[in-house]
Amino acid sequence: MKIFLETFGCQMNEYDSELIRSILRSHQHTFVENLDHAEVALLNTCAIRENAHEKIYHRLDELKGRKRRQKNLVVGVLGCMAQNLRQELAEHAPIVDIVAGPDSYRRLPLLINSVRGTGEKGFDFSLSEYEAYSDIAPQRMPGVNAWIAIMRGCDNFCTFCVVPYTRGRERSREPQNIVAEVHRIAAEGFKQVTLLGQNVNSYRFEQHDFADLMQMAAEVDGIRRVRFTSPHPKDFPRKLLHTMAANPKLCKHIHLPLQAGSDSVLERMNRTYTKQEFLDLVAEIRAIVPEISLTTDVICGFCGETDEDFEETLEVMRRVEFDSAFTFKYSERKHTIAERKFKDDVPDEVKLQRLTRLIDLQREISKQHNAAEIGKIFEVLVEEPSKKNPHEWLGRTDQNKGVVFWDDAVKPGDFVQVRINAAGTNTLRGTVERQGWRRLPVTAVEAECCAI
Ligand code: 5AD
Ligand code: SF4
Repeated sequence: MKIFLETFGCQMNEYDSELIRSILRSHQHTFVENLDHAEVALLNTCAIRENAHEKIYHRLDELKGRKRRQKNLVVGVLGCMAQNLRQELAEHAPIVDIVAGPDSYRRLPLLINSVRGTGEKGFDFSLSEYEAYSDIAPQRMPGVNAWIAIMRGCDNFCTFCVVPYTRGRERSREPQNIVAEVHRIAAEGFKQVTLLGQNVNSYRFEQHDFADLMQMAAEVDGIRRVRFTSPHPKDFPRKLLHTMAANPKLCKHIHLPLQAGSDSVLERMNRTYTKQEFLDLVAEIRAIVPEISLTTDVICGFCGETDEDFEETLEVMRRVEFDSAFTFKYSERKHTIAERKFKDDVPDEVKLQRLTRLIDLQREISKQHNAAEIGKIFEVLVEEPSKKNPHEWLGRTDQNKGVVFWDDAVKPGDFVQVRINAAGTNTLRGTVERQGWRRLPVTAVEAECCAI
């Protein structure tokens, strides 16, 4: 069967789509890039906020029209939204033939066959305590970075979050199995690996913790950079910081979700840390890994958030000065603790005003941080042509900052030294420094110019 697979949402979903490709290919299905050529259309979905659901419903509307013309097109909704809405999704979107949650991908070949064979719809929402797809080699698109899920699920139950309900209980994969996957991707030519988990701090397999795993991944020849996302600020492993400081392959970037700055909001969110504990952690991270870049996630307008609570979030952001932040309006999710326990009582226009203030503040901070990089030279891993201008390259520094530059002698996967000469809010811009070229430090250049 010819399959079209579209992925929505986070990196974990990207990784899951690679697993799905592998499972279906091993059953002789093929993949097409163009929906016009597809016999099966699969959407791998996200449920984290309402706008994620809206996107999928919109796509399903488009598929409805297509199904009128192509009666035997099989439509499947997979992943978090499938798990979250289950029967309701099938009822509201009668064109959907298959609904399968994140632990049901092994059953996809069976579900597809049965829809094609008998016309009977196939649903599978069983969540497993063990499924980690460890024996399946993901089918990756060629590139520079490879994702590896080192664990699945989440046991934290932050009250706003749907993930514990859509992805089920937390389980860690065996380290030897993960390291074997790192060897495979190195052999395939990937230069960077990003280890994924909903909360990597709680990775544990027998006597191995997350810091051990990072170290093991870094030891694989051919892999030049190891990244991870995301840790939880509670019980952040100090050992991980020392491991990061000691190993140049471990990238100096931590995505550390703050979510909110007020203790009462943090408590209602069940984040299990206070504002001061978060600030202390940031100070410790910076003391142990001084060159670290910190980024974050922030939610505004959570249940009961007052103006004063929100000011505390802004205060933490001013004090920490993250390099960048993903900022969100609170979006009530089905089945979560917040939905059952609290009232979604911050009016939407207040959420929007607060979101605008978060974005404005972060833009200011990012701009200042980026401007401070002008004149410095960074090792940049070349990723792909820049989206804005395909005649330029986009690469990333160790700290995960995007750098745009032009050079006709490089290709994706190369490492180049780039001197930064301009900075915006989101990206840096620079020129490649070649060995053998005499380059003076900026201050010396300025001094020379002044002397002339
Ligand atoms: N509403 C808004 N943002 C949310 N996030 C998770 N759940 C919600 C929600 N219900 C955000 C958190 C999380 C990021 C992935 O998405 O900030 O860290
Ligand atoms: Fe959701 Fe909290 Fe788990 Fe992150 S740690 S996935 S925010 S429940």
